[in-house]
Amino acid sequence: MIVKKIKLQNFRNYKNQEIDFNEKINIIYGNNAQGKTNILEGIYLFSLGKSNRAQKDEEMINFEENDASLELDFVSKEREIKGKIDISRKKRKKIFLNEIPVKKNSDLVGSLNIVFFGPEYLSLVREGPKNRRKNIDILISQLKASYMNSLSDYKKLIDQKSVLLKDDFKDKIFLSVLNEKILNLSVSLIKTRFEYIKKIEKIAKKIQLEISGGKENLELEYISCGLNIDEKKIENIEKILTQKAEEVFQREEKYRECIFGPHRDDIDFKINGQSLKFFGSQGQQKTAVLVQKIAEVELFREEIGEYPVLLLDDIMSELDSSRQDFVLNKLQNMQIFITCTDAERFKVLSGANFIEIEKGSMKKCTCI
Ligand SMILES: Nc1ncnc2c1ncn2[C@@H]1O[C@H](COP(=O)(O)OP(=O)(O)OP(=O)(O)O)[C@@H](O)[C@H]1O
Ligand SMILES: [Mg+2]
Repeated sequence: MIVKKIKLQNFRNYKNQEIDFNEKINIIYGNNAQGKTNILEGIYLFSLGKSNRAQKDEEMINFEENDASLELDFVSKEREIKGKIDISRKKRKKIFLNEIPVKKNSDLVGSLNIVFFGPEYLSLVREGPKNRRKNIDILISQLKASYMNSLSDYKKLIDQKSVLLKDDFKDKIFLSVLNEKILNLSVSLIKTRFEYIKKIEKIAKKIQLEISGGKENLELEYISCGLNIDEKKIENIEKILTQKAEEVFQREEKYRECIFGPHRDDIDFKINGQSLKFFGSQGQQKTAVLVQKIAEVELFREEIGEYPVLLLDDIMSELDSSRQDFVLNKLQNMQIFITCTDAERFKVLSGANFIEIEKGSMKKCTCI
């Protein structure tokens, strides 16, 4: 997939800016707080229909304005697509693909596939499970059309159940209806997550061996209901969830919380059998995330037959030079966007496009 052009109007600190991109490497550089990450956010919006960092769409509208508009020209599955997103303080966000309105975010997903890697991901292995779940969910949502809707149905049911558990005079029949629905959706979500975690693991294992000179065996273990899920357990997942539901029934009533299920699951990154979260060095933890991200890119190619667009936000400066070379060598046949404050290191790359950003506008664009 290739992003050809972006047009930003009243988006973040951009008033009116059009930028053409190179099919290979785009280096977006400039001082801090000039608007580099905002460009990546603008591109990212067209993958899931929502931002990777804004809680509310409104945050993306320029402080002084009431409406923002983004246009993105891209090529996906050999089709030229003109995307448009209108964000307003007063009305619902509108998305168009080739001038046809997109009704739900899930109808947009899959048009432009993106892998985003920013500094916030560097602690993915170390921190709590929320972002590990979020990361895998974003990946699967782009690869499997029905997943995003199932996930949002599941979240709504969990919210409903949470409200009900807090009610002193709760309708027990409604609670059991909800539990039944939650169980069915949980089975399908867990099976899908397991399937994709294993696909990622297969690719990531090879990359980890390559990057560690054959020394490190990487494993990704899906943890659900406090259990390490393997092939055998996934076959019996419905039974496991039913048993767990009976086990925690009283605790859920007591603590008035939904205490198990896909919204509480986790992924354990292991190297040579040891959990990286507890035993890995910071460098090993960072490398494992880098490996996971490269594996995501490869998985898109395997599943869709096309590379996604890779957005590397301020990440290169976090990697040592051998890791930087590894990334640039590994990812030669796809479009990459790199933001950085110092573009010097990339001047050796032939055919790269250098875009200098200053105060929400493009100061200079040079191709070498
Ligand atoms: N809604 C908005 N309206 C106007 N300006 C905004 C809005 N949201 C963010 N900004 C401004 O955008 C700038 C930050 O842009 P961005 O995050 O793209 O910076 P950056 O160039 O990536 O910086 P860094 O190198 O520090 O990561 C800030 O100055 C911020 O005040
Ligand atoms: Mg930034």
